[in-house]
Amino acid sequence: MIRIYKEDNYEQMSQRAADLILAQILLKPDCVLGLATGSTPIGLYEKLVEYYNNNRVDFSQVRTVNLDEYKGLDPNHPQSYHYFMNQNLFSKVNIDENNINLPNGMEEDSMKACAEYDVVIENLGGIDIQLLGIGHNGHIAFNEPAEYFTKGTNCVALTKSTIEANSRFFASPDEVPKYAYTMGIASIMKAKRILLVVNSKEKADIMKEAFLGNITPKVPASILQTHPDVIIVGDSEALRDFE
Ligand code: F6R
Repeated sequence: MIRIYKEDNYEQMSQRAADLILAQILLKPDCVLGLATGSTPIGLYEKLVEYYNNNRVDFSQVRTVNLDEYKGLDPNHPQSYHYFMNQNLFSKVNIDENNINLPNGMEEDSMKACAEYDVVIENLGGIDIQLLGIGHNGHIAFNEPAEYFTKGTNCVALTKSTIEANSRFFASPDEVPKYAYTMGIASIMKAKRILLVVNSKEKADIMKEAFLGNITPKVPASILQTHPDVIIVGDSEALRDFE
């Protein structure tokens, strides 16, 4: 089942999504939050920090599991997803660092890194709410359009265009990671609830394709149509084709 919150703008989208996460933590203080990076959730992380500063939420028992991490970047690298999460959320709230989980980007053995992360996810005993963004091509986490839906954690070769696009953040193109570790689609689908955030008119076409079109691995997010509990929170531009 899919529920849609169509908000007027990015600010309200962020507010609504933060409220849903707040509600989850209030209902279950030791909940497992599946978290995402990218530009879309930045506003909702800001709101959560605001809630924390106003004593409305306590992260001390919350456990987190992130979708993905670049292979080869250590947690202190400014482009790593560890760093992103620290900057935007973890360092600003009272989360216990032992309760934070991301794929180990420093593990060179991809099979080992992926298997270990699957165990981490399994041991958490189920993700209560998984936050997702959506890529312009319909990707979720780093699961790109493909011939099949991925299952567990996998190591993805970044496309040439992604590497080129990312090179502006690095001293030299050689430093840009060539691979990333990502949670698989089947693991994402096991989350009890999915919270997808999306904004801007550039995402309107892919939202239509993913949620009003056919279910196909060529549009990875389309599988979410079969999930029992999906909440989409978007701005009116991204959700142009939705009621
Ligand atoms: C982030 C992630 C990605 C992003 C997606 C959208 O952890 O896994 O799938 O959610 O690329 O990115 P933004 O929000 O920057 O448009």
